[in-house]
Amino acid sequence: MQKGRDLAGFLHETAAADIAKLITSIAEGTKELSHAVRNLGAMGLGGSMDVTNVQGETVQKLDDHSNNVMMRVCKDSGTCAGYLSEENEDIVTLNTGGKYIVSIDPLDGSSNIDIAAPVGTIFSVLERISPVGSDVTREDFLQPGYKTVAAGYALYGSSTMLVFSTGAGTHIFALSTDDNGYYQTHLRMFIPGGGRIYSLNQGNLGKFESTAQQFVDWCIAHEKGPYSLRYIGSMVGDMHRTFIKGGVFLYPAAKGEKRGKLRLLYECIPMAFITEHAGGRAINGSQRILDIQPTELHERCAIIIGCKDLVSKYEEFAQAVAV
Ligand code: AHG
Repeated sequence: MQKGRDLAGFLHETAAADIAKLITSIAEGTKELSHAVRNLGAMGLGGSMDVTNVQGETVQKLDDHSNNVMMRVCKDSGTCAGYLSEENEDIVTLNTGGKYIVSIDPLDGSSNIDIAAPVGTIFSVLERISPVGSDVTREDFLQPGYKTVAAGYALYGSSTMLVFSTGAGTHIFALSTDDNGYYQTHLRMFIPGGGRIYSLNQGNLGKFESTAQQFVDWCIAHEKGPYSLRYIGSMVGDMHRTFIKGGVFLYPAAKGEKRGKLRLLYECIPMAFITEHAGGRAINGSQRILDIQPTELHERCAIIIGCKDLVSKYEEFAQAVAV
């Protein structure tokens, strides 16, 4: 099969040079992680470490390795001033002379590692507010998502895919096992309408806000027949399916709370950014994700994301509850 455009050529034509450099560095990191995911045992990266991260979750060896790799490639880019990761409590200054900051979940879906199911990396890029030449500040990272400059994810599944946007459409590349290069697979990606898939941890329905139950009931009792439930348990895997096949992914707020489980800065905002650039929508139930003003580095957020029609349907139920 003929290969599509390669990543370097694509970035050269579509992105500013310093952003192209940063995306290229992150892409190189994802190649290392793709290799690590497929060679866990040989690289001694299976199982967990004896530590918990800032979220109170046990750190898997691959989580730690992924964080080290992504921090290194961001530093090596020369253009990345600062780094915020799920695995670090605080922000890290990498290059005082850099213009951008990166928020990242280096290895999303840790519970899938030991069962050889899909995992991924999610990242977003902002321009710093603090002056070039100084250390980065928390304010650099606590900017609303509409200020995002670039965002994306890598999926380490049966193939390794890189999906990203630099603000002009969402684009998808596959990693070739022939030459370890990324090649474009779709000219521009649009979430298909009419998808009949909903994706959430249905076992938690009793814990979620009541809108989630109403929405699921609506999906199951749909006049054209029940929607299918698909749930991989890694946001990257579930979102990749949503991008290709349509439908909606949900991690709603818990009852009596506004926030859900997923992290605003390095899970919800990057996915919302690439979803909007692919013609979809992302809300927390009542508000556009990209309009939320973050207040904490590791803030959690509810998310309903995917095809516009289905996100709007959820919003309709939410508004009816709120009246
Ligand atoms: P982690 O990377 O800590 O395993 O979290 C994964 C996230 C997200 O990727 C996924 O959609 C969600 O947590 C799954 O959570 P549940 O197990 O609660 O369904």
